[in-house]
Amino acid sequence: MTRRTLPALRGFRGLTRIPGQWTALALAGVLAATLATPAQADQALATAKACMSCHSIDKKVVGPSFKEIAARYANDKAAADRLASKIVKGGGGNWGAVAMPANAQVTPDEAKRLSTWVLSLR
Ligand code: HEC
Repeated sequence: MTRRTLPALRGFRGLTRIPGQWTALALAGVLAATLATPAQADQALATAKACMSCHSIDKKVVGPSFKEIAARYANDKAAADRLASKIVKGGGGNWGAVAMPANAQVTPDEAKRLSTWVLSLR
């Protein structure tokens, strides 16, 4: 740890003694989330809906990476709707032996937002 970072750390510890400051920090976080770009908001939705436990943006995990998916369907205009429906219902056969389970926690609108976001990744 360099000497330059220490005063900042001390300032941060100072904050922990005043609960009101935590409220301010939480509010700042909410504000930052509100001001986030749509793509960041969509990624946050994917994280909240547990998509990122099986997918990553650019590496295969249990499922294919989101960039691979975007590349495969780059010229497929019907892909956003088809993938949205598959996100909700689950299914397999396109990427290997493992199928995606249904994601019942995702509404059709959210699924469309997620499929559109995935397809926008390059
Ligand atoms: C339990 C693991 C798991 C979770 C959770 C999961 N997926 Fe998947 N996903 C997979 C697997 C496995 C595949 C490959 C299915 C196949 O071969 O057709 C896949 C495929 C996909 C595809 C491509 C489908 C196709 O036909 O090409 C998209 C898009 C996708 N997932 C999005 C999501 C989104 C968005 C979420 C969160 C709501 C999510 N996944 C959650 C495992 C998962």
